[in-house]
Amino acid sequence: MNYVVLSEEKNEKEHVPIFKKEVFEGLSSNPKRLPSKFFYDDEGSRIFSDITNLEEYYPTKCEYNIFVNHKESIISQIPSNEKLNIIELGAGDGRKTKVLLDELIKSKREFEYIPIDISRYAIEGLLKDLSETFPKLKTYGVVGEYSSGLQWVRDKRPGKNVVLFLGSNLGNFSQEKAVVFLKEIRKSLNRNDFLFIGLDLKKEISVLLKAYNDSKGLTSQFNLNLLERINRELNADFNPEAFQHFGTYNPIKGTMESYLISLKNQKVSFKSDNRVFSFGAFEPIHTEYSWKYSAQESFDLSEQSQFGVVEHFTDSKKYFLNALWKAL
Ligand SMILES: C[S@@+](CC[C@H](N)C(=O)[O-])C[C@H]1O[C@@H](n2cnc3c(N)ncnc32)[C@H](O)[C@@H]1O
Repeated sequence: MNYVVLSEEKNEKEHVPIFKKEVFEGLSSNPKRLPSKFFYDDEGSRIFSDITNLEEYYPTKCEYNIFVNHKESIISQIPSNEKLNIIELGAGDGRKTKVLLDELIKSKREFEYIPIDISRYAIEGLLKDLSETFPKLKTYGVVGEYSSGLQWVRDKRPGKNVVLFLGSNLGNFSQEKAVVFLKEIRKSLNRNDFLFIGLDLKKEISVLLKAYNDSKGLTSQFNLNLLERINRELNADFNPEAFQHFGTYNPIKGTMESYLISLKNQKVSFKSDNRVFSFGAFEPIHTEYSWKYSAQESFDLSEQSQFGVVEHFTDSKKYFLNALWKAL
């Protein structure tokens, strides 16, 4: 299959120490936290894909509808005289992206699609799917972190870049880190390159709470799988049944927050490393932010990171926003 695995994801030797270091740091801090990027082992990527099919999980449906309804206008904003690198950060299963790829093919654009994802499972699944759906599509996958993936593209694929950062992945960063990260993307681009970014809009809180506490319990499984991954890969003895998923909205920050709550006083050991972490009854581990934005905040973010807004696209309920930004 046509993809490269960047060093930190390549083998146990490089992956395990980074994973371990960040898990130990997170569990040693107060309050305890675990980075959301580690949700996506094979099992986590599979569960996330199932979540996107849930009735309550509106972001995927809204973004999909935006693409179906506005694909011609979105693509027509991108000049047609140059070959394009369509680079997607955190591509996942690429279901929505296929609408845009189809439109690019129909409008006879010359381009290569380069999905970047920390999950090898996601990249392999996506490349297989694309080879069946669009047999002639030129594509090359990158298994790695956003930043190292972008660096790889910069070194290996000079040219006109259109970066896709969909599904409100930016919302996993705190507000300050989001600006730092957007500046980093801007630095790796050339003037007049594009960033097409998905932002989940602020909305009625009951809609948010349902989306992140679904009735089938998939979000809970997704969150608890992180503990199972730690058990599998770091030889720990978390009892997932002694933790509970808790998703809540913080109206001051404007973010959904996911936690795993310890249901009792307990200790968790990492046998290979002789480390033990203690959890009090009802002590939380913070696992994810999912920041919600206003249209004005999209303008502010673009300004702070040296992009100009070309156009905003939204769905009929105004639940989701896709902003096309141009590098200034
Ligand atoms: C919330 S899912 C969204 C997937 C897809 N963009 C969508 O809209 O359905 C986040 C995706 O980003 C990937 N991801 C998360 N953190 C990452 C990181 N730091 N570097 C690269 N990929 C990351 C995950 O593996 C996952 O496939």
